[in-house]
Parts: sequence; C-alpha cells; structure tokens
Amino acid sequence: MTYTSTKFCNNIVCTLILLMFVTLPVANTKPATFLQDFHITWSDSHIKQLDGGRAIQLTLDQNSGCGFASKNKYLFGRVSMKIKLIPDDSAGTVTAFYMNSNTDQIRDELDFEFLGNRSGQPYTVQTNVFANGKGDREQRVNLWFDPAADFHTYSILWNHQHVVFYVDETPIRVYKNNEAKGIPFPKAQPMGVYSTLWEADDWATRGGLEKIDWNKAPFYAYYKDFDIEGCIIPGPATCTSNPSNWWEGVTYQHLDSVAARRYKWVRVNHMVYDYCTDRNRNPVIPPECLAGI
Ligand SMILES: *[C@@H]1O[C@H](CO)[C@@H](O)[C@H](O)[C@H]1NC(C)=O
Repeated sequence: MTYTSTKFCNNIVCTLILLMFVTLPVANTKPATFLQDFHITWSDSHIKQLDGGRAIQLTLDQNSGCGFASKNKYLFGRVSMKIKLIPDDSAGTVTAFYMNSNTDQIRDELDFEFLGNRSGQPYTVQTNVFANGKGDREQRVNLWFDPAADFHTYSILWNHQHVVFYVDETPIRVYKNNEAKGIPFPKAQPMGVYSTLWEADDWATRGGLEKIDWNKAPFYAYYKDFDIEGCIIPGPATCTSNPSNWWEGVTYQHLDSVAARRYKWVRVNHMVYDYCTDRNRNPVIPPECLAGI
C-alpha cells in the first residue's frame, strides 16, 4: 500500500505524517503520564501524582518507602525519566531506577541506584549489570552537580550492540555485547521498568557508617517525563529484530566522539569504584573488563 500518488495524500508533509502513524513502533507516545506506563507496587499512600499525572512525588518516612513498576515488559529500547533527588541530608536513603527480567535464577537486570549522602557531600550513582543471572558488576560515580537542585534525565539505552547508562547527555557506563568472546549479554528476556525509594542505611552511605536521620523525614524525590520506547513483550514477534527501530540505528550502536569524550571524562574524574579494578573481590579480572568497549 502506498500513499504517495493518491488524492488522499499527495504532498510530502502529509505522506510523512501518514508514515509516522503507519510505522509507529510498538512504543508509547512521549512523554507519558505516570499511569499510562506504570502502576504502584509498594505503598500507594507514599506516591502522589502531580501536574495532572505527568509527575509524581515519592515519599520515604519511618512507616514506609514506596515503589512503582511498568505495566509492560520490553525487549530492547530506551527508558528515560527526569528525577529530582532528595535534597540536603539524604544519607542512608536509596532511590533506584532499574530494569529487571524478574526471572529468579537467570535474571537480567540493569540498575541505577542513587545513594544519598550528608548535606554538602556528593550523591553517588551506583550501576550494575546482571546478564544471565550473573551480577556483581558494580560501578560508582559521584555526580558532578547537585541532583536535588533540579531535574536531570537518567536513561538506559539497550540495543543489540550495548547497554548505555546516561546521566543527561553523558554516558556513565557502557556494557558492550561481547558474546563473540563468550561474555553474556542480556538479549533474550524482556525486562520491566521499576523504581523504589527506601531506607538502606546498613550499606548505602560510606559503607553504612552514615545513618539515616529520621528527624529530617519525610524525604521526597520527584519524577517526571516518563519515556519508554521499546518492543513490548508480548507483542509482534518481528519488533525486536526490526533494524529500523530507532534505538538500533547506526548512531546508537556505539558512542560518537563527543559521547566517548564525555564518558572518558566521567571515568577519569568522577569514578569512585569499579569492580573491574577491585582485586580483593576479583583476583582474576572479569573477562568483560578486558574485552573493551
Ligand atoms: C558521601 O560523601 C563521602 C565524603 O565526601 C564520600 O566519600 C562518599 O563517596 C559519598 N557517597 C557515599 C554513597 O557514601
């Protein structure tokens, strides 16, 4: 079926608009309201919708933390949201944003965890990658801005070539598909999108030395601009292997030179922990650490 030469649609703008609808991938229009993409999984009373459902406030107090999850699971795509983290003294709190296949034994999981800190001390972002049931791949970077002063975009790009964790436009982590070298890569199991805010003062801040100060509670984090684009599973079987999905495009298959420079800048200036160089934990360097990006 072509639309180009009919009276129905005979100019380029009209054709483009039509094509947009006809080829609309199995994905959401963006940004979505919270309830379009998500539902609350933990403590309704601690998640408040704002701005007509386009933003939410998460609360942590002595009674409870809270959490939410996507209604769908996805196989490849990009998930992003804007988050404003707990201001001032957030020590002992953890705000997490992650994808998880929820398959117990052989789970795939991609984690962003924001570890709070005492006032004036830097927030730490911990990332982890589970592929085929194996995790223990933590890396930590200290943020180069105050993530509680304003909203910033946190996103996970996931395609056949790699997984990239972004803070705004800056890649902070790349996990490459090195299956050719026998290294597992998450590609067979769809993952849901999750977020939680909870108390973890036994480990989160300075290894558990800094405790949560409940005098400062309730603690609030804010989310908005929910954007999930990807292949919904179950859905059309052809979606995940469709090379015209934008997230599989050439420009998304590797970091361009600007992104590569930013990534290097983060690693040199802001990385505070890397499992790859932790010889106590890993006397033998994990293979993916040597395989390069
Ligand atoms: C908190 O601040 C301390 C002191 O600057 C720093 O060493 C640590 O990496 C920061 N983050 C966490 C999660 O402890």
